[in-house]
Amino acid sequence: MSSVDIPREQWATRIGFIFAAVGSAVGLGNIWRFPFQVGQEGGAGFLLIYLLFIVVIGFPAMLVEFVVGRYTERNPVGALKQVGSGIWEYVGWIFIATGFVILSYYSVVAGWTIRYTILGLQDGYIADAAEAEAQFVSLASGLEAILLHAVFMAAVIAIVAVGIERGIELAVKVMVPAIILITIGLAIYAATLEGAGEAYSYYLSPEWGTIAANWQSIVPAAAGQAFFTLSLGMGVMITYASYLGENRNLAEDGAIIIGFDTAIAFITGLIVFPILFTAGVDPADPGAGAIFVSLAAAFGDLTLGWLIGAVFFGTVAIAALSSAISLMEVVVSYIIDERGVSRPTAAVGIGGGMFLLGIPSAYDLVLLDLFDLFADQILLVLGGLLLMILVGWSLSELAVEELQRGIGDLGSLASAWIWAVRIPVILVLLVALTLGILDYYEFLTGPFAEWIGEQ
Ligand code: TRP
Repeated sequence: MSSVDIPREQWATRIGFIFAAVGSAVGLGNIWRFPFQVGQEGGAGFLLIYLLFIVVIGFPAMLVEFVVGRYTERNPVGALKQVGSGIWEYVGWIFIATGFVILSYYSVVAGWTIRYTILGLQDGYIADAAEAEAQFVSLASGLEAILLHAVFMAAVIAIVAVGIERGIELAVKVMVPAIILITIGLAIYAATLEGAGEAYSYYLSPEWGTIAANWQSIVPAAAGQAFFTLSLGMGVMITYASYLGENRNLAEDGAIIIGFDTAIAFITGLIVFPILFTAGVDPADPGAGAIFVSLAAAFGDLTLGWLIGAVFFGTVAIAALSSAISLMEVVVSYIIDERGVSRPTAAVGIGGGMFLLGIPSAYDLVLLDLFDLFADQILLVLGGLLLMILVGWSLSELAVEELQRGIGDLGSLASAWIWAVRIPVILVLLVALTLGILDYYEFLTGPFAEWIGEQ
């Protein structure tokens, strides 16, 4: 039933693989989720812990996904079937389910970014915060949101249907440099704003007192963000590394990818906080919609804010597209490998299903939270945790051997890597999972129960 005799696609160039992985990593997570997490967790302290986790947790975990993908040359379900027998197959299934759920609502949020790009070009943004909020609420859910969700999903389907080399690789080679140039340009612009000085000290000088007082919420938030922003925990990097033919230095590739992703998130902070401080908006305003509302209101306040805003939201939309491609590719690669379906058919079928699953999220914000929290705090962390346990504790020899292919003998660095996976990575994921489940329970019994009551 598997169709391994169809020659497997490969990246045409090393840079193509790196761009695709960077394109996956850089997305709504960097430009939308990161600044609102920094705001919610009190500024520079969060940034510091986040950077620490990127190195200590994110880097080792990314290498785990890379070695599994390159070694097996399979989709995540096939890969786990091959390296771990029995129940491990189901871990691959968790990955597929996570990708399915995440993309369903990720596409809705991406639809908002398209709407906000058009909004700037058409009418400009509203400076009054209360009105901006009302506008967000009316745009975020309903028929128009569903329509834009459909538009975005269609774009993802089109690129994935074309394939690895001519579809994904070509698309990211254009999108990634554009994202980098535009964010740098916007950061330079933001530096000229009046509120820049105040914003930099909020964002860049950590206060030990704040970290000590809030570490219980900073630690899981920073760990979750590190995983999400690097596209870890659901087999994206397994899938992308499975299209690597030759033996290259995976540690070096990983470091480059992580460097880009971290740089874009960091630079986004240099854009968002000066804009917010200049407009007098409190960066601590919580919630997923906050960054849309507060940024739009801030753009409404600035000279040429409509244009800067349209460029900003347009960039976010492009970044979301290159990430969404990777989410769909995980599921599509599974269908192609294991079911022998053709790529275009798989892309249309899967994309159609994801579109349908996303309709509730485009219908009401509470339902979007229902999906987002479940995928983000439970599925993603659970899948990542199980993979780390498998590779760290029972496949470590094979993993080290695979990592060294293309690098050479790593000596004690190899055991440093494995032990990083075995203890800190697993521990942090366990804590994050526990807190995530508690949080989800609170959501189900709180806002969600209330919502059900209102229906
Ligand atoms: N990393 C992307 C972002 O920051 C989102 C993303 C793409 C993702 N693929 C993923 C997150 C896989 C988790 C798992 O927006």
